[in-house]
Amino acid sequence: MSKKLVEELYAPHVKGARERLQTSPAMKALLDPKADPALVEAFLIQFNTLGVYMTEPVDGWIRRAGEATVKMGLEDVGTKLIAHAKHEAGHHLMMIEDSKALVANWNKRRSPKLDVETLLNQTPTQPMKEYRAIHEDTIVGPMPAAQVAIEYEIENLSVVFVPGLMEQARRVLGDDIMEALSFLKEHAEIDVGHTALNEVMLGKLLTQVPEKAEIIGQTGARALDIYLNHMAICVELSQKMLKSAAA
Ligand SMILES: [Fe+2]
Ligand SMILES: [Fe+2]
Repeated sequence: MSKKLVEELYAPHVKGARERLQTSPAMKALLDPKADPALVEAFLIQFNTLGVYMTEPVDGWIRRAGEATVKMGLEDVGTKLIAHAKHEAGHHLMMIEDSKALVANWNKRRSPKLDVETLLNQTPTQPMKEYRAIHEDTIVGPMPAAQVAIEYEIENLSVVFVPGLMEQARRVLGDDIMEALSFLKEHAEIDVGHTALNEVMLGKLLTQVPEKAEIIGQTGARALDIYLNHMAICVELSQKMLKSAAA
């Protein structure tokens, strides 16, 4: 019943954003069978170093959205959000570790030589700032439970995108690269369960407030759009790194 509600009331809002994952030129360049291995490696460095800024606040966002959701009377969904928050704490630490391993690896074989601290301290890009803003706005907005939709779209990337990315990395960079991909590897595993949980929460939410499906769906779509823009910038920055090496 509630799964049907997700399909009928929610899915149409995120259809376009989800399609962009397949059609985005940046994602195609990254996953191209003929992609330059250095491009894939540079992307992994950008994705992890820049990702810290977007991942560190996650457990706080989910917990606060859960508390606001309880406050507005949607106790079941709110409590589930608060419980889920704990499972996201500290995940940025994996990205920091992976960044260090990836940069050390890069510096052994490639140029330009990179400094991991500089990369970790890059100025946040527009999508990175927007990603923080959509969470903050949702928490204080009229439908904080829409955090469920943000989680549903973003954690689902671990299910529908990350396995292909890891496959590409392994193919062009070799098996050893997996040792530097703990964040991606772990998320490909645990976010299958998180996505199933998000779907249950979303279904429950739509049962309770079907009239809010549009704002919930649009919040999910916007979060996914921002995240795709972020990944496209990671590809662009990687292409620039390669150009500067060739110059
Ligand atoms: Fe996580
Ligand atoms: Fe997760």
